[in-house]
Amino acid sequence: MMFRYLSLATVALSIASVLPAMAQQVAGTPAAETSHLDVDQLFATTCGWCHSDGGRVAGKGPQLMNTKRSDDFIRNRIKHGKEGAMPAFGSTFNDADIDKIIHYIRSLKPDQP
Ligand code: HEC
Repeated sequence: MMFRYLSLATVALSIASVLPAMAQQVAGTPAAETSHLDVDQLFATTCGWCHSDGGRVAGKGPQLMNTKRSDDFIRNRIKHGKEGAMPAFGSTFNDADIDKIIHYIRSLKPDQP
């Protein structure tokens, strides 16, 4: 009887210790791996100041369409920018946002005449 009571208490205790950890995991990874980013809009404004025509042609920044850069390079450039050339966006976008941007860049096609 005593044993049964104890194990119930143990179960209750372990649930109580797991719950805050779960809650923290949910809260600690904001919008984890989901992206509500509108990349077209982003390139019409923020990135478009320097990457012209949605990234199809060079502006103040290089053309992004047909880039030979790796995903890692692109991710790193967007997160950390480049001093004196491009601002860092690491606090603006989560990884899913950047995945979306990479996908956008990779699927850029020349404008139809
Ligand atoms: C103030 C101008 C500016 C803005 C705004 C800007 N960039 Fe850049 N970007 C640059 C310049 C300049 C480079 C080239 C840096 C270098 O010399 O390596 C660059 C490089 C890049 C590269 C690497 C391309 C390559 O071939 O090296 C990517 C990808 C990129 N930018 C994406 C973005 C995205 C996405 C945004 C918007 C969130 C953005 N940039 C906003 C100026 C800008």
